[in-house]
Formats: sequence, C-alpha cells, structure tokens
Amino acid sequence: MTDMPSIPTLSLPGGSGRMPKLGLGTWPMRGAECRRAVEAALALGYRHIDTAEMYGNEADIGAALAASALPRDALFVTTKVWHDHLTPSGIRAACEASLGRLRLDHADLYLVHWPSPAMDLDAVLGAMARLKEDGLARAVGVSNFPPGLLRRALGTGAPIACVQVEYHAFLSQERLLALTRPAGVALTAYSPTAKGAGEKDAALQGIARKHGRTPTQVALAWLLEQDGVAAIPKAAGEANQRANLEAASLRLDAEDRAAIAALPKGRRLVDPGIVSDWDA
Ligand SMILES: NC(=O)c1ccc[n+]([C@@H]2O[C@H](COP(=O)([O-])OP(=O)(O)OC[C@H]3O[C@@H](n4cnc5c(N)ncnc54)[C@H](OP(=O)(O)O)[C@@H]3O)[C@@H](O)[C@H]2O)c1
Repeated sequence: MTDMPSIPTLSLPGGSGRMPKLGLGTWPMRGAECRRAVEAALALGYRHIDTAEMYGNEADIGAALAASALPRDALFVTTKVWHDHLTPSGIRAACEASLGRLRLDHADLYLVHWPSPAMDLDAVLGAMARLKEDGLARAVGVSNFPPGLLRRALGTGAPIACVQVEYHAFLSQERLLALTRPAGVALTAYSPTAKGAGEKDAALQGIARKHGRTPTQVALAWLLEQDGVAAIPKAAGEANQRANLEAASLRLDAEDRAAIAALPKGRRLVDPGIVSDWDA
C-alpha cells in the first residue's frame, strides 16, 4: 500500500541489520486467525513480525510469509527459544526447528524468551552467539531480563542486539533503557498498548482528542518516538493494524509527553512467575 506511513527503522549493533520500529505481535493467535492477521499486516506494509516457539504459530506465520512472496531481505522476523531449552544443544535444536516451521534459513532476531534460574548464562549466551556466527540468526538478544541480569549479560561481551520487555505508558523501563542506550542495544516494547488499556485512560484520551487520534495511537506514538525503542502491538484485524501503523506519523508535543510521564508507571500485565524479582 503506498498511502500508508512508512515505518522508521533502527540500526542493530554489529552490522546486524535494521529493525522496523513497528512490528506485529502474534501471541496468542494461531492457525487461520494468525495466518490471516499476518497476511493482512504484510499487505498493509508491516515488515516486522514477532513470534516464538512457545506461541505455536510459527508454521502459520511461515505460510503467510511464503504466500506474500516478499523478498526475504524486506522482512524482519523475530522468534524466541523457550526457557526449558536453555542449554547449548537445546538452543541450537530449538532454533533449527523454529526456522523449519517458519520456512526460513535464518531469523533476523533470535531471543532467549525468558531467563531460567537453572541456566548457565555464559553457556546460553555463547550458544546464541554461535547461531549468529553460523548464520542461523542475523542478530540475537534476550527478553524479560531484569536489570541486574541484563547488566551481567551485556558484561559478557555477547553480541546482544536487542532486549524485548513489557513497556508501555503505564510501566517504566528507565533502568533497562539506562543500560541499553549507552550500549546501542535496541529495546522492543511488548504489550505496548497495555493490551488496549489506554483506551480507558483519561490522560491518553485527552491527548488523543487534541490530535484527532485514538488513545492507543497516542500510547504507541510515545514509544515509537523514543530513541532505540521498537514496539510490537498485536492486532488481529486490519482496522487496528492500520491504526497502529498510522501511529508512526503522530507527533506528540512537550505537554503530551509531560502528561504521559505523570501517569503511574508500575502496572505490569505479563508476569507468569518465571522472574522472581523484576527489580533485581
Ligand atoms: N517476550 C515476551 O515474553 C512477550 C510477552 C507478551 C507479549 N509479547 C509479544 O508482544 C506482542 C504484543 O503484546 P500483547 O499482545 O500482550 O499486548 P498489546 O499488543 O499491547 O495488546 C493487544 C490487544 O490490544 C488490542 N489492540 C491492538 N491495537 C489496538 C488499537 N489500535 N485499538 C484498540 N485496541 C487495540 C488487540 O485487539 P485486536 O487483536 O482485536 O486488535 C489486543 O486485544 C504479543 O503479541 C507478542 O508477540 C512478548
């Protein structure tokens, strides 16, 4: 589609390529719903798709990517290894299986989905680095690492290009951003619309009225304007996909940013009990 706003990209470190700042989240879609959603998004102009082995939808996404006939280098596909596969051989096998389901010979970004208390951090990051060296992933990174663990991971010198965490107008990630920004590491915001909760927030509603947009578009624009930050809203249907894409063209002003900064920032929506202390 030529009339859609273009999606800005950000550079990943180490010549690992450029990641579109806006991607399509795909959890918890599966089967025909997932395939239709990805096909619709690609037709609208999305080029960044987020999945994981745990989502059980990589084969549906692989079918949608193949049907699009888009050139491989136009696409940015992220997938993730589940926390019960965090041994060197487990990571390798999980990555190869994901690529098979996605019908790809490499992922653009391969992430450790959640840390595991049982993992050997150096061994895990070494195995991730080997995926990059061997061409199975253009870039590697981690997800759901609290600040202390991320600091240790970055300190190993592993080629971490991106950190994916919950981040939205109601949850601060200043401590993680203070680690990622100086290192040139990207931060991808998951649950970036706070699962649609912004629609009911008075401050976001007020900003939205001022700009003739929706509160969810305001919440996304606030993320997309931040240095080094990408966002992967999930939207099953074309209307919300289009609205989220159009958020990339919304320019907030200082008054808007001050109102969003003043929102309470402690609302964590995704916490399956794998990380025992988010502040550690
Ligand atoms: N790394 C991790 O551990 C992790 C954890 C959670 C999520 N993720 C990734 O992040 C993605 C997004 O996170 P999420 O799904 O938790 O939260 P989200 O994207 O903030 O919220 C998705 C919800 O918001 C609705 N929505 C989307 N666009 C909207 C719009 N413009 N207006 C109103 N409502 C809208 C969607 O409805 P419709 O579908 O009906 O449009 C859906 O119910 C996931 O799909 C997954 O790929 C990663």
